[in-house]
Amino acid sequence: MNGNLKLAVQKKGRLTDKSLELLRLCGLDIENYSERLVVSIRNFPLDILFLRDDDIPEYVQDGVADVGIVGENVIFEKQTEVKIQEKLGFGRCSLILAHPNDKELKEIGDLNGKTIATSYPRILKSFLDKNKLDAKLIELSGSVEIAPSLGVADLICDIVSTGNTLMMNKLKKSFKVFDSEAVLISSEKEFEDANKKVILNDILKRIRSVLTARTSKYLMMNIPKDSLEKVVRIIPALKSPTVLHLAEEHLLAVHAVIPAKTFWDIIDDLKAAGASGILLLPIENLIQ
Ligand code: PRP
Ligand code: ZN
Repeated sequence: MNGNLKLAVQKKGRLTDKSLELLRLCGLDIENYSERLVVSIRNFPLDILFLRDDDIPEYVQDGVADVGIVGENVIFEKQTEVKIQEKLGFGRCSLILAHPNDKELKEIGDLNGKTIATSYPRILKSFLDKNKLDAKLIELSGSVEIAPSLGVADLICDIVSTGNTLMMNKLKKSFKVFDSEAVLISSEKEFEDANKKVILNDILKRIRSVLTARTSKYLMMNIPKDSLEKVVRIIPALKSPTVLHLAEEHLLAVHAVIPAKTFWDIIDDLKAAGASGILLLPIENLIQ
């Protein structure tokens, strides 16, 4: 026991690279991790445990790991006593029902009497119950997408992210069960070691800063002095913009942090107000 916070991350899969990228953006110096079960971070009191994603909720519940990064899909299926500390904005996917391209499924009632293969029996059962449907479930631990072509099931209920797996198996989405993204979880119980709480708060602070930075951009431009009021009204800045004098007397430089998605909505108005030399820069961290 080295007192480090133990964070479980998916060993190999959809969330692995993005999870490590987020930790790196938090300033953590992660060594080459290939084929290792545990990696200690050189510059932060944290150990990363690489585990199968399906096992992460249980390991966190039982205290084998203190926290974990996992998809909501896995958490809802496993019904463990864990709490979501933060949604992480990556690993977005949906749990859906899909059937072979050459079959038709018009309405939800058509699921009655069908056989559905899935690795998510609990979630699927509650979806069927909620919609008062009577279908047969076949639980498979992997490669669910091949069940219809093997004649084992009429439909599958599985995760779709890019849609490649469905396409390659000639399957078509019919109904969505729910949307999911990666989240940071901890056990519902308080940590026995108070210092771990401090480490968790530190990592949460860093993660939140990276997440806000991701959706924000740094906007810079030059404007004629007399359009300042107009320009300030156009910019949806998180805080009051910075205004700087330039060597050229009739111009001002305006800098502001804006929500990234608003840029294309305001660009024409800024130009019409006389803005020139407009620059939009990424932000690595943003503490509010
Ligand atoms: C899901 C699902 C498919 C794949 C779909 O697996 O079972 O195999 O992702 O993704 P796509 O739409 O981008 O092709 P998941 O990543 O949850 O891994 P696991 O079942 O091995 O845990
Ligand atoms: Zn899995």
